[in-house]
Amino acid sequence: MACKRGALIVLEGVDKAGKTTQCKKLVQLLQQSGRPAEMMRFPERTTTIGQLVGAYLENKSDLEDHTVHLLFSANRWELVPLMKKKLEQGTTLVVDRYAFSGVAFTSAKPGFSLDWCMKPDVGLPKPDLVIFLKLSPAEAALRGQFGEERYETSVFQQAVQQKFEELFKDPSVNWQVIDASQSVQAVHENITILSQKIINTAQDLPLGELWK
Ligand code: TMP
Repeated sequence: MACKRGALIVLEGVDKAGKTTQCKKLVQLLQQSGRPAEMMRFPERTTTIGQLVGAYLENKSDLEDHTVHLLFSANRWELVPLMKKKLEQGTTLVVDRYAFSGVAFTSAKPGFSLDWCMKPDVGLPKPDLVIFLKLSPAEAALRGQFGEERYETSVFQQAVQQKFEELFKDPSVNWQVIDASQSVQAVHENITILSQKIINTAQDLPLGELWK
């Protein structure tokens, strides 16, 4: 390898856990310390597929549940060539949601098994680290009202949280759970320590394939 690869770091969690704030803070810190880093997020709503997903989430369109699940997955796959290129160039990617949100949200709907939900994302670039920002539904409620988008109800978010907990049992994924009820700064410091460690380890390892 001409240069050391970047790390693939994913932040997951239910709504209001602070994922986006923490992704931005981590990227900023890494860049300031001279490490190439960029943020990505899923769904990436700017692509043609992402626009379909975005309209669905904003309740501007209805899509059949299996169909939208596959579109969320396709939205990840369409970004894989770019992700691989950036990682190979040595850029660490900090990603706001990934396949785990895909599986947790769809499998929280009636009639969907975890197994079926995982299938379309098998083989995606495997994150070197998945940080789950854990926040109880009661604490999430204290952070204010949910927005207007689909899925933003406390009953559904609780079901999603349970599905995430099933996903934690998978030892093939490097899950790290952080208590998101701490201050923004304390959470950031926890995330920084984990990330710096994994960036150093991952640079000498090949990129893995998720759930394979
Ligand atoms: P966000 O853009 O505010 O993070 O919200 C995206 C919403 O889409 C959120 O409710 C989680 C949901 N989602 C899925 O249902 N499947 C997926 O694959 C992803 C990435 C997100």
